[in-house]
Amino acid sequence: MANVVVVGAQFGDEGKAKVTDLLAMNADMVVRYQGGANAGHTVVVGNETYKFHLIPSGIVYKGKQCILGPGMVIDPKAFLTEMQALLDRGLDDSNLKMSTAAHVTMPYHLMIDAAEEESRGDKKIGTTKRGIGPTYADKCARTGIRVEDLLNPAVLQEKLEWMVPRKNVLFERMYNLPQLDVKQILEEYLEYGKKIKKYVCDTSALIFEAVGDRKNILFEGAQGTLLDLDHGTYPYVTSSSPSAGGACVGAGIGPTIVDRVIGVSKAYMTRVGEGYFPTELFGEEGDRIREIGAEVGVTTGRPRRCGWFDAVLGRYAVRINGLDCLAITKMDVLDSFDEIQVCVEYRNKETGKVYKDLPSIGAMFAQMEPVYKTLKGWKQSTVECRKFSDLPDAAQKYLEFIEQELDAPIAIVSVGPKRDNTIIIEDPIHGPKRVLSKAVPA
Ligand code: IMP
Repeated sequence: MANVVVVGAQFGDEGKAKVTDLLAMNADMVVRYQGGANAGHTVVVGNETYKFHLIPSGIVYKGKQCILGPGMVIDPKAFLTEMQALLDRGLDDSNLKMSTAAHVTMPYHLMIDAAEEESRGDKKIGTTKRGIGPTYADKCARTGIRVEDLLNPAVLQEKLEWMVPRKNVLFERMYNLPQLDVKQILEEYLEYGKKIKKYVCDTSALIFEAVGDRKNILFEGAQGTLLDLDHGTYPYVTSSSPSAGGACVGAGIGPTIVDRVIGVSKAYMTRVGEGYFPTELFGEEGDRIREIGAEVGVTTGRPRRCGWFDAVLGRYAVRINGLDCLAITKMDVLDSFDEIQVCVEYRNKETGKVYKDLPSIGAMFAQMEPVYKTLKGWKQSTVECRKFSDLPDAAQKYLEFIEQELDAPIAIVSVGPKRDNTIIIEDPIHGPKRVLSKAVPA
C-alpha cells in the first residue's frame, strides 16, 4: 500500500498525466486536489488520445475511484461537457465523485478573469481565462458558491441575490460589461446541480475510508510548483497550491497519509502565459523544441515558451515538495540536438553575484541570467529505449547530471507519448526514499 502525490516540478505541462496514468494502473483511487478547467492533461492509450481538464485521468481505467477534491474550483458546464464527451467514448462515470466543498466557477468569474486581464495591459498574467483567480478570490473572501449550494435552491438563491448585484456594480463602473440576471443564473445552475448530484459527496470521508482499507491512492496535481500561489513566481502564478503540501489541504487528508512525492519535469522547460523564465530560448533552438515537442497549450491552444532545463528551479521544486524522486518526460524531444544546455546557477546581471537557489525576492528574478553547463547531445532516437542501459551514453550522462544537480534520483524517463515509451529506472513507489543529504548529520 502506498499513497503517492504526483506534482509538476516546473511551470505546468510537464507530462504529469502520462506519469499519473502509469501509476494509476496500480492505484485504487485517483484524486485531483486543486485547480480547475485551466488544466490540460493528455493521456494516450493505444490509438486513443484523451484530453482532460477537470476530470482525473484515472477515469480511463475501469473500476478506479476518481475524485474531484474540495481544493478544486469546478465550472459545472465545463465539467458536464467533458464528462459527456468521455461517456460518448465509452468511459464509465460510476466511480466518479465530486466534493461538496469544491468551489463553483460562475459566469461572473469568467467575465472578471477576461476583463482583469484586458485591464492589466502589458502587466497581464496570461491566464487561461477559465475564471480560476476570481473563483479562488471569492472562496478566500468567503463569498464563494460551493458545489453543495447547487443542490440547495434556497441557499443558492440567497447567495446569488447577495452576490450578483455586487458584481453588477463592478461590471457597470469598472469593466463596462453587461448586467447579469439572478433568476437566469439561478435556473441554469440549479439545472447543473440536478445533473451533478449523483457525483456529489464528502470525498474526504471516502479517501479516509480508502486509507483505512489500505487502498493505493494517487493524488494528481495540476499546473506546477513554479505556478504555486505561495511558492511560485508570484504574481505570475495560478491561484491554488499545486505543490505537494496542497495535496493535503486540497484533498482533505493529513500529511501522515502521504508515503511518497514524485516530481515530474520535462527534459527541457516550457511555460505558457507571462512571467519569469530565465532559460527561455527565443531563436531557432526554441522553435525547434516547440516544433518537435508539439508545445502548444492543451486548454488554450497557445504556443508554449520553450527553454533549457533549469536546475536552479529543479532544486527549488525538490525543496518545496520534498520530492522523493523524479520522472523526466519528453527526453526524445532532445534526440537531434548537437549540444544541450543545463542552467546550473543564476548570475545577477548587475552585481555579478551567483545564486544556486531561487532568489526569495520576486523583483530580483528579472535581474538573473542563467549560467549554463553544456552537455553533449546523443544524436540518436531514444524512442525505442526501454531500459536505462538502452539509452545512448550521452543521454545517460545527461540524466545523471540532472540527478546530481537536483540531488534527487530519477525513477522514470518518458521517451514518447505512449504508455510503453517509458523507462522505469527504479520503482517510483517502493524504491529507496531520497536521502536528504543536507539534513543528515555527517
Ligand atoms: P490561471 O490558472 O488561468 O489563472 O492562469 C495563471 C497562470 O497559470 C498563467 O500563466 C497560465 O498560463 C498558467 N497555467 C494555468 N493552468 C496551467 C496549466 O495547466 N499548464 C500550464 N500553465 C498553466
